[in-house]
Amino acid sequence: MCGIVGYIGNQKASPILINGLIRLEYRGYDSAGISTIENNELSLMKDKGRVKNLYNIEGIDNLVGTIGIAHTRWATHGKPAKENSHPHMDNSKTFSVVHNGIIENYNELRKFLTDNGYTFYSQTDTEVIPNLVHYYYHKDNHTDELKFLRAVKNACSNLKGSYAIEIICKDYPNNMIVTRKDSPLVIGKGEEENYISSDIPAILSFTRNFYLLDDFDLAVLTRDAVSFYDKDLNAIPKNTEMIEWNASSAEKDGYEDFMLKEIYEQPTAIRETIGAKFNETTKCEFDELQYTKDYLASLNKIYIVACGTAMYAGLVGKNAIEKLCKIPCEVDVASEFRYRNPLVDEKTLCIFISQSGETADTIAALKLCKEKGAKTLAISNVIGSSITREADDSIYTHAGPEIAVASTKAYTSQVMLITILAIYFAEKLEMDSNTINLLKKDIMELPKKLEETLKLSESIQEFSKKCYQEKDIFFLGRGIDETVAREGSLKLKEISYIHSESYPAGELKHGPIALIENDITVVSIMTDCNLVEKTVSNIQEVITRGAKTLVITNQNVDENMFDMVIKIPDTNPFISPILSIVPLQLFAYYISKEKGLDVDKPRNLAKSVTVE
Ligand code: F6R
Repeated sequence: MCGIVGYIGNQKASPILINGLIRLEYRGYDSAGISTIENNELSLMKDKGRVKNLYNIEGIDNLVGTIGIAHTRWATHGKPAKENSHPHMDNSKTFSVVHNGIIENYNELRKFLTDNGYTFYSQTDTEVIPNLVHYYYHKDNHTDELKFLRAVKNACSNLKGSYAIEIICKDYPNNMIVTRKDSPLVIGKGEEENYISSDIPAILSFTRNFYLLDDFDLAVLTRDAVSFYDKDLNAIPKNTEMIEWNASSAEKDGYEDFMLKEIYEQPTAIRETIGAKFNETTKCEFDELQYTKDYLASLNKIYIVACGTAMYAGLVGKNAIEKLCKIPCEVDVASEFRYRNPLVDEKTLCIFISQSGETADTIAALKLCKEKGAKTLAISNVIGSSITREADDSIYTHAGPEIAVASTKAYTSQVMLITILAIYFAEKLEMDSNTINLLKKDIMELPKKLEETLKLSESIQEFSKKCYQEKDIFFLGRGIDETVAREGSLKLKEISYIHSESYPAGELKHGPIALIENDITVVSIMTDCNLVEKTVSNIQEVITRGAKTLVITNQNVDENMFDMVIKIPDTNPFISPILSIVPLQLFAYYISKEKGLDVDKPRNLAKSVTVE
């Protein structure tokens, strides 16, 4: 949440900063601002609203500074308003700061600073940072090169909570300092210029060489170099990492929206995620993992912990792990898991799924499991993300950058990867090879079947025109289809703002059926041949009460019974969610478009939830 960008080089900083903010808007979009150094003075331009509003600020075109910081905000402390927008300055206007995260002890720091004569002009937690830096700077009688760095280090040692911070100082017009703790921040290395960003995609068009920071690292950027220090100001060596994503993967490439592009990228994302992990004759291998049969046989439980869509991918993974490996598997929402003293010990393998790798609750849950002695495994889409740096082991989905707030290709890639992981475990444990070999064969055919599924978009668009004005839409399924119903319902509500609920179809009679009335839309997923008849009976019950029905199935159902049947390709039940979710992603997308909403940036939501 919140996006930060920085630039130091020989070009005018402001257009680069604004361009970066536009690309980061999916992280927050209620206010934006930039600060540059102009003739040894700090400029500050900010306003409430979208990043594009910055263009309306008088004088913004006249900024010529070649060093600057910028921020797009997702409000936590203080309502969206100009005074709460970043950057924030200290009282003497010596330092300008942007911050992503939450300073938990800001009240205490604010009081300390107020007692020392400082005045506050916003309701934010961030405003304590530039003033605290100023406090230490002012107290330091030396005038050496490291004075600015020492002040930042001393200020940060007082901060509790999470932060990614960029800071510039009018007395050091050729330096920018950045640091982080539990909030994302990367440094992109260019030729005689360096970039800062919350996420890699925002600056991919400038560089593919990145420095990744560990918690508490401090970096001093000049035009030509970046120096790194630990929290005690000992210099630390760091090499750049080359990122394989290309710049066009972070562009819309002719699609109207990122979400639509990402839906259509799913065949490629799945192909890339399968990669070379197995073929028809070889066993499944992960270069990154060295799990032995003895270790896996010793496990009493596997936990999958994640948030939102990633958690729903985990539910699909549970089915594969329990059925293929015969290891009990529990799935939990990270924000609940971490506060309920979970029964985790060295005989538990804890798997954490996170597209961004920066979700605060998921990272905290991982740390908790490590403390309890469990082995931890991260599944992420972002190389070098915080979660992968914390976990004992990490494996990656290869979905490419996901920009739209609503997750699509990351979900299907997560389902794919965790299913392959279950195969890897099952093969190590020497489980039923017939089932495994059949599944591997079906996985190889999946990208083609996804391409076929995407061809069904017209019928889905047609149906969405019939229900975009509705107030409530229900999603039903049984077994693995119930997990897809949950994800379909989440997708719809987050981008269309239509209230929607998902239920196990058999639960309908235990309460929710009371809500079914004439013309309400009920979407059902039926891909399990053993359960299809039961679900059809449940749908019959809602049809009797006047519901409109959309059915997603790979089974032979009586199409005359329903308002619309989307017939998807048949596949192995372990991976059917990767196909059956696609019509539901498109359904949510087209409804949102019909309503004229901003599909990629739904209200109140941010792509990466870096606060608890
Ligand atoms: C929904 C969505 C969210 C995320 C959740 C976890 O479309 O994208 O529910 O799945 O915030 O995010 P990551 O996977 O980055 O930890």
